[in-house]
This record gives sequence, structure tokens and C-alpha cells, in this order.
Amino acid sequence: MVSNRTFITTVVAFLAFTAICLIYGDFVTIPSNMTSSLSVPIEVTLSPETSERSILGSAKLCITLTNISPYEIFLLRWSSPLDLSAPSIGVVTFTSTKTGTKAPCLDMKINHRVPPDGHFSIDDQSIVRIPANDKVDAVVEFKEPKVALVKGEEYSAKAEGTWMGVWVNESGQKVEKLSMGDGMRTGEFASNKVVFKVPGEGEGPELRE
Ligand SMILES: *[C@@H]1O[C@H](CO)[C@@H](O)[C@H](O)[C@H]1NC(C)=O
Ligand SMILES: *[C@@H]1O[C@H](CO)[C@@H](O)[C@H](O)[C@H]1NC(C)=O
Repeated sequence: MVSNRTFITTVVAFLAFTAICLIYGDFVTIPSNMTSSLSVPIEVTLSPETSERSILGSAKLCITLTNISPYEIFLLRWSSPLDLSAPSIGVVTFTSTKTGTKAPCLDMKINHRVPPDGHFSIDDQSIVRIPANDKVDAVVEFKEPKVALVKGEEYSAKAEGTWMGVWVNESGQKVEKLSMGDGMRTGEFASNKVVFKVPGEGEGPELRE
């Protein structure tokens, strides 16, 4: 089937791309003694996207990050549920409720360039602001070749991973830059599980484990 061939071609293309990134990219390595052990006051919620119906072989999920603190938060997108490559990096996993197997995902490892001077501007494109006691959300589409969801199958979706950088504006002072050492928090996150069915009576894409 076309979908299978497309899947393989795209995987190969992505592998080539990843190889290039590996050559030119810089790994993000944040010494653990530089990061704060304070917890990250962000909750991650997944919900079905209702304003628009899902199309065949794909799922749209609404991803909501809720700031449960009374301070403004700055979040580094990288590896978070709001990573612009979220469908490709496996931050959301899809498990078939029937077979218990995980839907294949590209599981790309993306290398990001750390700012040479060790801090982000608060206006950096990689930074998301979440106002105090407020939330941000994004509707994200998950489909081939990033994630292989089979038509007619029911999945349980869950977001899980590591916050790579979170800054909580609790100093009472104006923040201009976000330092990768000073006051940056890291930590784990896990969302709720949301169960949904990928619509489609017809033939599903040909997939192999
Ligand atoms: C963190 O550890 C590195 C390497 O072990 C060391 O060079 C650095 O001085 C430490 N930084 C702090 C703030 O302790
Ligand atoms: C951070 O908090 C301070 C004090 O509440 C506030 O004046 C400031 O606008 C906040 N945001 C930034 C980006 O500094």
C-alpha cells in the first residue's frame, strides 16, 4: 500500500535528517548540580479535539498546560508537550486498548542549539509563557509517518517526559533573560490518559511492528 511505502521513505528521510543534525547539532547537556530541585508547577492535560472531527488514520488532541502557581512561568518548548515536533518525538504515546501495543512512532531525537551565552531571551521562539494561574493549549495532529495510528482502532494516549527548562517568575523582579543555570527548574511530567477511536470503516494502513 501507498501508506506503507510512504512511511518507509519518510523514515529514511528522517534518519538522514537526524544524521545531519547529529553532525551539526549540539547536545543539550545541563549539569544536574546547576538545576534547582524545586518542583515544576505545571499540569499537562490531554483531551480530544472536538471543534474539528479527526480525519482517517489521524488523531487531533488538545494539549493543555496549566500553570498551578501564582507566578508567571517561562517554559522551554524542547521535549515538552508543546515541542513543535511533538508528534515525532514520542512525547505522547498511543497504546491500543485492544492489543496493548504501542503505536509505532518516529521517536526522533532532536538536537537543539543552546544559546552560546547560556541564557534565553524571554521572547525566544523556544520559550512559552504561561501567565499566573492560567493555561496555554495547542491542538496537535498525530498521524503517519510520525505516528502510525490504525483506522478503526481505539487508543489510550498519554503525554510523559521531562521538562528541560522551566523558570518561575517568583523573584518579584522584572525578568529579561532566562539563564540555563540560575533558577532553572527541570523535572518529570505525566498527563492524564485520554481514550479515543480513530475513525474509519475501511482498510487500515499496512503496518508492521
Ligand atoms: C557543577 O559540576 C561541575 C562539574 O562537576 C563543576 O565544574 C561546577 O563547578 C559545578 N557547579 C556548581 C554550581 O556547583
Ligand atoms: C515577573 O514578575 C514581576 C513581579 O511580579 C513583574 O513585574 C514582571 O512583569 C513579571 N514578568 C516579567 C517578564 O518580568
